[in-house]
Amino acid sequence: MSPLDHHEPADPADRPADAARPGSTLITGISELTTQDAEHRVLHDAAVVVEEDRIAWIGPADEVPAADAVHDLGGRAVLPGWVDSHTHLVFAGDRGAEFEARMAGDSYSAGGIGVTMEATRCADDATLEALVASRVQDAVDGGTTFLETKTGYGLSVEEEARHARIAAEAADAVTFLGAHLVPPGADAAEYLDQVRGPMLEAVRPHVQWADVFCERGAFDAGASRAVLQDCAAAGLGLRIHGNQLGPGPGVQLAVELDAASVDHVNHLDDADVEALAASWSSEGAGTVATCLPACDLSTRQPLAPARRLLDAGVEVALASNCNPGTSYTTSMAFCVSTAVLQMGLSLHEAVRAATVGGARALRVDDEVGSLEVGKRADLHALEAPAAIHLAYRPGMPLTHAVWRAGRRAA
Ligand code: NIG
Repeated sequence: MSPLDHHEPADPADRPADAARPGSTLITGISELTTQDAEHRVLHDAAVVVEEDRIAWIGPADEVPAADAVHDLGGRAVLPGWVDSHTHLVFAGDRGAEFEARMAGDSYSAGGIGVTMEATRCADDATLEALVASRVQDAVDGGTTFLETKTGYGLSVEEEARHARIAAEAADAVTFLGAHLVPPGADAAEYLDQVRGPMLEAVRPHVQWADVFCERGAFDAGASRAVLQDCAAAGLGLRIHGNQLGPGPGVQLAVELDAASVDHVNHLDDADVEALAASWSSEGAGTVATCLPACDLSTRQPLAPARRLLDAGVEVALASNCNPGTSYTTSMAFCVSTAVLQMGLSLHEAVRAATVGGARALRVDDEVGSLEVGKRADLHALEAPAAIHLAYRPGMPLTHAVWRAGRRAA
């Protein structure tokens, strides 16, 4: 069973209700309910009824319908669970020394991926599964209720397939990132053929998405396009790591291929921002710009221009990018507080990017990312009376309780 599905014992705040809707729980005592629905409703003194895995009712606490059980939050804020749309959780090993050298002045380069590849290949299935499960649990404990993760540290047919399988056991969405780096010692053209052929075929049963690290030192526009087109033909949705370490073709390629998301986006020119905005100006979903503030800080890159993107009409997501090289954290709360304190977003915009934005980046916003009747009951109750405390008290442990698909997950 995925750690995302584990069930906690009943909380003392849970008590049976007098009258009942079958299989329903009333969550009340909500001082502030941030719905992130289309009307951006924020309700005060609110309550939510959860039936099975769905939200059945939302409204004022003094108008609640009867339910099987009651959970009184005693005046705490509730928001949708975080949707973390970009992580690399399938890894072993430690790159603390690389990080320390970077803080002393070294710059980040894609080559570190090879170090993690070596360490991860040495980890047996049980070890790797336990590492991934504990990282997922860390994320859930911090309020994440929907999580994507990637391959990309296997870099051989067998290892990529193994990592995809392990990822699929633990995460809600899995991305094939065979085109993360040409492994040390391999021939670039031969490796590309492998990625597009046997590797894609081997991971296909376990993944929904494909990604490419389109950056100097990794894959150029031509190679990235070729991989992504083959993956699209195999039925996978597309995403791109782009414009992380310098200006580059990643954003334009993502829009050209109707990728759901282009991630990092630190170095953008006007044409990049315009292309992303234009992707949202017509009917249907465009390309989300996914900002990864924890990574930007850990690599000393300029923070992604989230304010400029929002002002231009681009859909923005915030994600943790948890990985051992550039962003060793699963804390979405840290990303949200950084977006408010350093990137010029309001609290509401940052929370939206970490919930609806992530859901749009994974094209699951009809299911998760906002609190609306009929959607999955993914709720994050804070140890605070209002969501602004996420930025007001950065770094504090502000998760009080988490429900995922209607069940207590933390
Ligand atoms: O998203 N940029 C490429 N991939 C990861 C880092 C990988 C690594 O250095 O291990 C990222 O930052």
